[in-house]
Amino acid sequence: MRAKRTTLVHLIYFSRLNLSADATSRTQQIGEITRQAQKKNEFAVITSFLIIEQNFAAQIIEGERASVSDTFARISNDPRHRDVQIVEWREIVKREFVNSFTTSIRTPTNDVLFQKANLLPMFQRGTPKGASIHALAVNLQAESMTKQGIDHLFV
Ligand SMILES: Cc1cc2nc3c(=O)[nH]c(=O)nc-3n(C[C@H](O)[C@H](O)[C@H](O)COP(=O)(O)O)c2cc1C
Repeated sequence: MRAKRTTLVHLIYFSRLNLSADATSRTQQIGEITRQAQKKNEFAVITSFLIIEQNFAAQIIEGERASVSDTFARISNDPRHRDVQIVEWREIVKREFVNSFTTSIRTPTNDVLFQKANLLPMFQRGTPKGASIHALAVNLQAESMTKQGIDHLFV
């Protein structure tokens, strides 16, 4: 008999980043967040995907209910962003993201997917839909995996 799985949830939030306007410092700051988050998420068996568009961040965090809750409690107190708002928090049947922490920043290379999702006006109005954030994250991950030639492992 298969072991019963623990309750999996995903949490989607968005926020406004308080990062430097200077591109080099900003990259360093994002690198610092990534190092901290990767380590903690691996330990807590969290998988996640962070989208950054201009000064907005939106992240999907997946994992066991208590781990997601603890992780989000830390994230929401972080002064590197503000106005942290939960968009969706619900049970899921399975995880959809493969890494403990991936960040995707809007660049000319992935611009088509960001354009299609058109999240910016929703962020500015303060009403992004969970489904739109989720769809963009899934598409960005799929594109990245196709580029790496490993998409067949995750059908
Ligand atoms: C946009 C953003 C996303 C973050 N994502 C995560 C994350 O997924 N997991 C995590 O542990 N910390 C994440 N952090 C960092 C946490 O806020 C926190 O700094 C880190 O977990 C260290 O917490 P501690 O100083 O209480 O040990 C994120 C921070 C920001 C600004």
